[in-house]
Amino acid sequence: MYLGVDYYPEHWERERWDVDARLMEDAGVELVRLAEFAWSRLEPEDENYDFSWLDEVISILGGHNIKVILCTPTAAPPAWLINKHPDILPVTRNGQRMSFGARRHYCITNRNYYYYSERIIRKMAEHYKDNPQVIGWQVDNEFGGPKCYCEGCRKEFQLWLKRKYGTLENLNKSWGNAFWSHDYTAWEQIPLPVVYYHNPSFDLDFRRFFSDMTVRYSNMQIRLLKGLNSGKFVTHNFMGLFSELDYYDLSREYDFVSWDNYPRDSSNRYRAALAHDVMRGLKKKNFWIMEEQCSYITREDITRTFPPGEMRLWTYHCYAHGAEAVVYFRWRACNFGIEQFHSGILQHDGTDNSISYRELKQIGKEMGKIGPEIENAKIVSPVAIIYDYENIWVNLAYQEKPMYDYPGEILRFYRSIKRLGINVDMIKSSDDFSNYKVIIAPLLYVMTDELAKNIKDYVSGGGIFIAGFRCAIKDESSNMLKEVLPGKLRDLFGISIYAWDNIRDMAVEIKDRDGKIYRGDTFADLITPEGAEVLAQYNSGWYTPYAAVTVNRYGKGKAYYTGCGLSQEFYDSLMKQLLSEYSIKDIVFPEEVEVNIREKDGRRFVFITNFSDKSVSIKIKRDMRDLITDKYINGETELSPFGIMILEG
Ligand code: GLA
Ligand code: GLA
Repeated sequence: MYLGVDYYPEHWERERWDVDARLMEDAGVELVRLAEFAWSRLEPEDENYDFSWLDEVISILGGHNIKVILCTPTAAPPAWLINKHPDILPVTRNGQRMSFGARRHYCITNRNYYYYSERIIRKMAEHYKDNPQVIGWQVDNEFGGPKCYCEGCRKEFQLWLKRKYGTLENLNKSWGNAFWSHDYTAWEQIPLPVVYYHNPSFDLDFRRFFSDMTVRYSNMQIRLLKGLNSGKFVTHNFMGLFSELDYYDLSREYDFVSWDNYPRDSSNRYRAALAHDVMRGLKKKNFWIMEEQCSYITREDITRTFPPGEMRLWTYHCYAHGAEAVVYFRWRACNFGIEQFHSGILQHDGTDNSISYRELKQIGKEMGKIGPEIENAKIVSPVAIIYDYENIWVNLAYQEKPMYDYPGEILRFYRSIKRLGINVDMIKSSDDFSNYKVIIAPLLYVMTDELAKNIKDYVSGGGIFIAGFRCAIKDESSNMLKEVLPGKLRDLFGISIYAWDNIRDMAVEIKDRDGKIYRGDTFADLITPEGAEVLAQYNSGWYTPYAAVTVNRYGKGKAYYTGCGLSQEFYDSLMKQLLSEYSIKDIVFPEEVEVNIREKDGRRFVFITNFSDKSVSIKIKRDMRDLITDKYINGETELSPFGIMILEG
């Protein structure tokens, strides 16, 4: 396991590098990420390379036992390159070519950009391939945009569509081009979706296309690096819940996923937890944190400074969800550039007096001891939630704003499962379901014959499947299905849905069989049971005759349909009922605390993280050893503000 920092030696004078390396080593830093934005210093002019400064930094770091991850610098093409090939710059939706500056100013399909990217990567890889201190590569930095609307992309898109549909007849039919006279009679007529209100099918394919083009460019880099650098890993820094790319596709050829974790503050703890699980789910493998927030950050605003203890809490939260390394962004706050109000482990003054530095020292010491014990420990889960990019992409009204908050709908269930101290796996709908006792699928819009069959096989074999509202309403082209809802899953759920309502923030009353009242919100599928058992009923106005939540026996299993958003207690009680045999029995903990488990060689590590800035009390019902203090704990015990424990037993 590694503890590391993102370092920008090119931002500091040469004399400082030795001081930095020493301070890093003192704090337990074992790894540094370098050079993701350093192209202009590595190739200051066309074909004129200068790796001498990077060699020197790497050797100074080596003198302090610090390993290096190098980055391909393609997220920031230098000015000379843009000046030579202005066509590399992306074109915005309204047809304006962007100027040089900021970063990520390149068109992902541009052939000239491929050429220069390959050239610098080849040079770097050849230069560092025999350097044992360089253990791996990060490709580019945070793929994801901007989307480009240049003529080159338009041609690529037309080709992509031709490959996909074969004939225009096929395309016109799949997109429903009879609508608003959109029929095409030649491939060259097909535009890019630069107008709003275009067509959801067109929009979906454009999203797939952009994702594919990014994957193609990313794979070019991976293959190049692997071909030239056997033995060094290749990864990329993903962005958690970012959803403009199909991350399952993007991650395929990387050795493992890394990601950049900026939770801001503890009000986002469940989203951060979910993001970790989504990242672990991409390759079903533990992951790295390549950028971990160490205190205040700059976005549209400047966020709060972490109080002492909070950086450490978030760090262990990463490990709790399967991180194998945590690398902090950034080593030292920069005194120039757009991120000058962004904290680092060291503040602008560069002294070792910062809160983050002191905390890093503590973490370094702790991880030096416990790292080897928990390294590669796995996360095993009895429950999976489906997380599909296509279901996010079809959930857009007028191709811009999501109609429903996809992660938000997942979090309704997720929170309740975490309250029981149960791990959650995030999977895609085409994954194998057989390992899970319960599978949950909020906003599962897109339904194919194949997926319907998989879900039915899973349930008839004894699985429990829970759908959220708007299940199985669309086909793979983002067109509404003509079937009575929930379409291909009607017999599975034993229900029909002939009417629904967009209730959004309006509160609707839902009554369960015991007379307990819940709040319904967001959307209401008005369910007519056809064999299913009604678990809760609408209890407001004209919705009253309809069911809101149902369950149906199907083969050896059960299928639940939750027709609307419900208040949290509803999910708490459903999850408790379905998953109680997997819940943590030996630790009692309050809402502020999250519990996660990692396992290795028959050992079980329970990560306990307190998200409150106050101390809280937890109860441990039998002898357990805290890996950090080496003390055995039993009974009622205080967890300090932002406190953590890793208990074995
Ligand atoms: C307008 C248009 C119609 C249709 C409706 C939808 O009235 O004329 O074609 O788009 O809006 O509300
Ligand atoms: C992203 C980028 C970094 C930096 C941070 C700031 O994660 O990858 O280069 O801009 O945000 O929070």
